[in-house]
Amino acid sequence: MEALIIEGGNPLHGRVKVGGAKNAVLPLMAAALLTHETCILENVPHLRDVNTMVRLLKALGAEVEWEKEKGKLHIRAQELPHPEAPYDLVKTMRASVLVLGPLVGRCRRAKVSLPGGCAIGVRPIDLHLKALEKLGAHIVLEEGYVVASCKELKGTTLYFDKVTVTGTENILMAATLAQGETVLENCAREPEVQELIRVLKAMGARIEGEGTDTIRVQGVKELGGYRHRVMPDRIEAATLIIAGAITRGEVTVEEVVPLHLEAVTRKLQEAGVELEICPQSIHVKGKGRARAVDINTLPYPGFPTDVQAQFMALMTLARGTSVITENIFENRFLHAAELKRMGADIRVDGNQAVVKGVDSLKGAPLMATDLRASASLVLAALAARGTSRVSRIYHLDRGYEKLDEKLATLGASIKRINEKP
Ligand code: UD1
Repeated sequence: MEALIIEGGNPLHGRVKVGGAKNAVLPLMAAALLTHETCILENVPHLRDVNTMVRLLKALGAEVEWEKEKGKLHIRAQELPHPEAPYDLVKTMRASVLVLGPLVGRCRRAKVSLPGGCAIGVRPIDLHLKALEKLGAHIVLEEGYVVASCKELKGTTLYFDKVTVTGTENILMAATLAQGETVLENCAREPEVQELIRVLKAMGARIEGEGTDTIRVQGVKELGGYRHRVMPDRIEAATLIIAGAITRGEVTVEEVVPLHLEAVTRKLQEAGVELEICPQSIHVKGKGRARAVDINTLPYPGFPTDVQAQFMALMTLARGTSVITENIFENRFLHAAELKRMGADIRVDGNQAVVKGVDSLKGAPLMATDLRASASLVLAALAARGTSRVSRIYHLDRGYEKLDEKLATLGASIKRINEKP
């Protein structure tokens, strides 16, 4: 098991590039199952979750070639003899469930392991299943697997009781090959969903309503291949911007789409962090302590739950008291206990965390519990006095491409070591 040793206190300086978006590339890879033609993705980040999706697509019978150095992925799902996603792969990555919609759409049958719980909450897939049933799929749960089958999927109108990102993506993909029109209401509007719609349209799908919460899909008989460059990862970008702010450094984060980050940049500006927002980059200047501000996580375009933990790290050192409300996941404050071990003053009450800013944090041995919590601990350690050891960083490697190396190029004292379990 690997860990990071971080010597805090160096203000970060320099320029850093954001990689391709994890939450965009995974659904786009699943979309390649909808066609027998070749699909090519560029700007593919080198992440553990991408590797898991590669293994899953191969297990389903697709040919996949990943030119890691070039960040290029070729996928060809000419035939799909085994539309079955095994537990071993699904349990390590919830987003594996994204193959369900495309498989049912194209093969009319699929067997996909139920993802089970994860550190940040129960995270069921009931809304995905309910929507597939409404499209005409027969669904049974057998020995921990979802077994779905149908003669054909038939267009219908359906409403998601809760805004769900992968749920919207899954059903959207299934509906592209359904018979007739499907109207999806209360859809997620995340930029990653919009990017999926653009790619599906390039494959020949007929979709309207991109960027709104009502999406209309006219089913077609078949789809063709695509070639696409993955958009920049807005969560990585936000993490790097906060790294500049929390260390009171000066960093230019390149290859960003500022529009995707508006909820975060507005809050940072409200907290007194100086930002220069250019068309494809954001320059951050962290002068002195930030001011405490409240945040409320919401579906896009609201403040992203995936940046809540990193923002909390910044608030631990702010002037004043901040109230952080987590509205998306029921157990997403696991980082708070670790931050407290560094001297942060945080009181968690249900889905709210009250963070009283302190003058300084002290380095400590820390345990990463989930992907974004790990990033929060790394940020706090960069700003703390003394040395921290962040263990279990496999969580970090699921969704951040070489974050330690990127931070080191900005002047952070950060080293990856092998740790005995
Ligand atoms: C996606 C993102 C994840 C992000 C999350 C919220 C990917 C690969 N992952 O996850 O990084 O944190 O959106 O922005 O894109 N829910 C149900 N039933 C369902 C589906 C969801 O109750 O069938 C609930 C969830 O438990 C959660 C809320 O709906 O409380 C939103 O979850 P959802 O948007 O589905 O998250 P993911 O798509 O899994």
